[in-house]
Amino acid sequence: MDILTSLDNGSSYSSSKLQMIIGAWVMSDAFRRRKVSIDNGDVSEDDYTKQSIYSLLYAMYRSIGEVKSETGEPYEFTFNTWGYAWPEGWGAPPTTATDPQRFGKNAYTGLLGFAPVRERVAKAGGKVHVVELGCGTGAGAHHISKYVLPDCTYNAVDMQKAAIETCNRRFVPELGGRLKAIHGDVTKVEIGEGQADIVVICETHITEHAGVVTDEDKRFFDVVRRTLKPGGYLCWGNAIPDATWQPCFDQLASIGMPVREVRDVTAEAILARDQDKARVEAYVEQCLKKFHGFKIPVVGKKKRREAELALKNFYRHPGTNLYDTMVNGTDTYRVVMAEKV
Ligand SMILES: C[S@@+](CC[C@H](N)C(=O)[O-])C[C@H]1O[C@@H](n2cnc3c(N)ncnc32)[C@H](O)[C@@H]1O
Repeated sequence: MDILTSLDNGSSYSSSKLQMIIGAWVMSDAFRRRKVSIDNGDVSEDDYTKQSIYSLLYAMYRSIGEVKSETGEPYEFTFNTWGYAWPEGWGAPPTTATDPQRFGKNAYTGLLGFAPVRERVAKAGGKVHVVELGCGTGAGAHHISKYVLPDCTYNAVDMQKAAIETCNRRFVPELGGRLKAIHGDVTKVEIGEGQADIVVICETHITEHAGVVTDEDKRFFDVVRRTLKPGGYLCWGNAIPDATWQPCFDQLASIGMPVREVRDVTAEAILARDQDKARVEAYVEQCLKKFHGFKIPVVGKKKRREAELALKNFYRHPGTNLYDTMVNGTDTYRVVMAEKV
């Protein structure tokens, strides 16, 4: 069993199934080459698929359920977002200093901070339609619909069945029909044309390859354009290879979506990872403790260490490869607004 490549985004694994999957991964150790660097948690692009990794993560978040942050605040891990500390100069922060998921909430709030976007929302009396591509559990969709755009309607799409189930369990019921969760690959599922005032993309796993826009990225951007009304806005934030931003901007311009504004929040994203260190460590510990497979003598301990490093790298935790790539400028976190002309 290779948990990095063989899980299915159309499945929603139960806690007992997850125990079996982790147990099989631990036991298969002797026959496999190690894919997780034990120096910094790095996993090469060719050694995992996003279908498998997120399938595992969302099933795990659900299975772990409510936990306590390092300061004792209870929460369910639903923002699968690095996010950033609220930049000085952007006004009052939208979150409290002890909210365990404040950096993700900041990231979602920050997407809608551009003046032309706020003007469009005000002109519509708040009644705008938002479509999010790669919404994960819908935690950000819920945050925007409840606090940032309390009169909007919102369709949230993700390819992971377990994430969409979490959205339907935790977030959809509270919003009285304004939030709809859709399961599917953004580049394949029917989303509806020319309906959205705003398309939101928050740390969706695309545009990851340095210096190139892949075919999938192009299809993604085509969906953005098709989904927006004329004059509508794409609000997109992520930490990706710095060399990939300009090719993406060129691609967007070539399909009639010029980029109007770019904000760099890399320094604040690094700060967020530093300030989130204790919470991430507490969470990873609570996760690993839950899986019996890691108690298997010898191999269990070894695989526990690999799982710990891979998870922390995934969270861009201080000391990991993905943290270092932000510090040395290989990856930059930007918040971007493009307009459909
Ligand atoms: C790092 S997570 C971020 C999730 C969410 N935006 C958040 O901030 O919590 C990346 C998400 O992108 C989704 N994703 C990547 N490619 C996708 C695609 N082609 N169609 C739908 N979802 C996709 C993954 O399933 C995953 O949930």
